[in-house]
Amino acid sequence: MPELKNKVALITGGTGGIGSAICQRLADAGVRIATTYRNAEKAEAWAQDQAFEPLLVACDVGDYDDCVRMKSEVESRLGTVDIVVNNAGITRDASFRKITVEKWRQVINANLDSVFNVCHQFVNDMSERGWGRVINIASVNGQKGCFGQTNYCAAKAGMHGFTMALAQEVARKGVTVNTVSPGYIATDMVMAVREDVREQIIAQIPAGRLGRPEEIAALVAFLASEDAGFITGANFASNGGQHMH
Ligand code: CAA
Repeated sequence: MPELKNKVALITGGTGGIGSAICQRLADAGVRIATTYRNAEKAEAWAQDQAFEPLLVACDVGDYDDCVRMKSEVESRLGTVDIVVNNAGITRDASFRKITVEKWRQVINANLDSVFNVCHQFVNDMSERGWGRVINIASVNGQKGCFGQTNYCAAKAGMHGFTMALAQEVARKGVTVNTVSPGYIATDMVMAVREDVREQIIAQIPAGRLGRPEEIAALVAFLASEDAGFITGANFASNGGQHMH
């Protein structure tokens, strides 16, 4: 994808399982990479393992003011941001009968407020420049629901509502906004599910396996490319057939 050479991407939570693969794939296409992180020790160890040089920026994406600061740090080091991937996310699984208000708020804040907080920093500038890409990483569970995840499913479904609304507002400005909804991917987040529960979930995936982070990253790179310029407001599933609609 030569057209992406020297573009700048901000990937939130880029040091995690899916985020890391997205950073790598975009870096392979010549994109300069910035990623937010929460845990400095983990982020620095991660950066040392990469074949490219990511810009690491400490940021709580659930905190608006922290995102304002993050924007100026990224832009002062790399210039204007062309591609935003809202990938940072957490789970705090509990059945509704056991969920606490804190678990509700943590997940809505980290997974959904963050999408507003981050996009609000960059999308108006993209519109003025006449080119931009926003890619929101949601989940199969935002499409089909999941026992024990009222908080997460609400946030992930909300992300796609945001995608469709913003896509309409910026379509004429050369900015596309899309959602990618991964199924169960082999990352620490999925491996944290109790083993017997996880085995039952895998048994329901027609492909018979967990997805690979690289399979999500390839889709993200395509959506960032020039060839995807007419695709906006869409939701792409990559879930091994677990949910079809
Ligand atoms: N459907 C229907 N009933 C279920 C059920 C299900 N899937 N799972 C549990 N139950 C039932 C149990 O049989 C039990 O019934 P009884 O009370 O009649 O015995 C009852 O619900 C247990 O309820 P609890 O409130 O006690 O639930 P728990 O504390 O034992 O477990 C949970 C809740 C920890 C959320 C557990 O269900 C779980 O781990 N579920 C998996 C959640 C999941 O898939 N998370 C995905 C994380 S990865 C991710 O999110 C990435 C992505 O985008 C895909």
